[in-house]
Amino acid sequence: MGLPRGRLFWPLLLLAAVSSGILVALYSSAVELHLGPRTGARNTTSSSQAFFGPKASNSRTRKNLLCQHPLSLAVQRDPRFRNLFNLSTPVLLSGDVFTQQLWDSLSQHKAPYGWQGLSHQAIASTLSLLNSSESARLFAVPRELLPGCIRCAVVGNGGILNGSRQGQNIDAHDYVFRLNGAVIKGFENDVGTKISFYGFTVNTMKNSLISYSNVGFTSVPQGQNLHYIFIPSDIRDYVMLRSTILGVPVPEGTDKGDRPQTYFGPDSSVSKFKLLHPDFISYLTERFLKSKLINTKFGDLYMPSTGALMLLTALHTCDQVSAYGFITSNYQKFSDHYFDRMKKPLIFYANHDLSLEATLWRDLHKAGILWLYQR
Ligand SMILES: *[C@@H]1O[C@H](CO)[C@@H](O)[C@H](O)[C@H]1NC(C)=O
Ligand SMILES: *[C@@H]1O[C@H](CO)[C@@H](O)[C@H](O)[C@H]1NC(C)=O
Ligand SMILES: *[C@@H]1O[C@H](CO)[C@@H](O)[C@H](O)[C@H]1NC(C)=O
Ligand SMILES: *[C@@H]1O[C@H](CO)[C@@H](O)[C@H](O)[C@H]1NC(C)=O
Repeated sequence: MGLPRGRLFWPLLLLAAVSSGILVALYSSAVELHLGPRTGARNTTSSSQAFFGPKASNSRTRKNLLCQHPLSLAVQRDPRFRNLFNLSTPVLLSGDVFTQQLWDSLSQHKAPYGWQGLSHQAIASTLSLLNSSESARLFAVPRELLPGCIRCAVVGNGGILNGSRQGQNIDAHDYVFRLNGAVIKGFENDVGTKISFYGFTVNTMKNSLISYSNVGFTSVPQGQNLHYIFIPSDIRDYVMLRSTILGVPVPEGTDKGDRPQTYFGPDSSVSKFKLLHPDFISYLTERFLKSKLINTKFGDLYMPSTGALMLLTALHTCDQVSAYGFITSNYQKFSDHYFDRMKKPLIFYANHDLSLEATLWRDLHKAGILWLYQR
């Protein structure tokens, strides 16, 4: 691959994978079903509520009558993003779509975009477990049955959140996505406590546990209503997912011997675990984050950051999305992470393209498709 093999390179890359840019998110609350009127303080000016406009009144009729400012409308109104978004693209991979045709098609691409070089048996046995209808959707209830706007916050780990006092605003969303080294304890005022989804690759999760244990990230968030989003960046992710659902130690590979319950807790219900579709990651990369890095010698290492994948997942599943702790144009004012003990500059590594991500968030904010926390 022509990669530098210096002793420093791999640790640096590791770190980069962990910090995955600036993003990340965090921990424990419920995937709430709002079948009635919602509550919650949402009147702060300059909050995402102000940005999206007042909530529609909550009578129990159809969703679109209730959600006055869905992001799909903002997408339709924007000449550029109208041609990029396909909100019908399947986001998750579930067992029922596993056919020879899918195998043939995904075998042509390397992870995270496909299964080239991966064991058929490992993929097939993992997907056969994801056979409940809930595996195909993020929310516990089919979307059509959820009235009103589904409001999501995606919390990256960027230093912009240090001292932000956004915790209450974040927790006022229906669902909160967090990722990688999302530390909550001690940062509740700034980042909130609610967590509906935790997104990661096995690599970024384990690196976060190593690199951020000294700032309090000593365990992966767990909770009854918390769902995990596996990003299939490697065979490790499929193997860990299978072992998790089966409740057995990892039998092979890099993570051999790991007991998944130590990461995800004792509840191994299939519905708790979601897997991003490799085709969704291809679609996102091709349309939204097609970096020039792809054509360099680092091309095989490049993929959207964990935070970018979570934010784009939210944009394809929620009606309104607020992004906290993501890279902004003035990122140099802030430390790499909100939980850093001392100010550390954000460093751009070759496996992600944070400049491109920053431009994307800025443009999506300008187009009214998401609301980006800035200060
Ligand atoms: C916002 O909510 C707080 C607490 O619920 C209330 O005291 C305040 O008056 C509200 N502000 C506006 C502008 O509605
Ligand atoms: C959007 O995605 C769906 C599902 O993959 C596909 O059937 C449809 O043709 C796509 N629409 C456009 C306009 O590309
Ligand atoms: C899903 O797979 C498991 C294990 O193979 C099986 O016990 C279960 O009945 C299947 N469920 C459905 C809905 O097919
Ligand atoms: C976090 O913010 C406080 C003040 O709000 C500041 O003193 C501290 O240096 C910041 N931490 C980092 C790592 O930037």
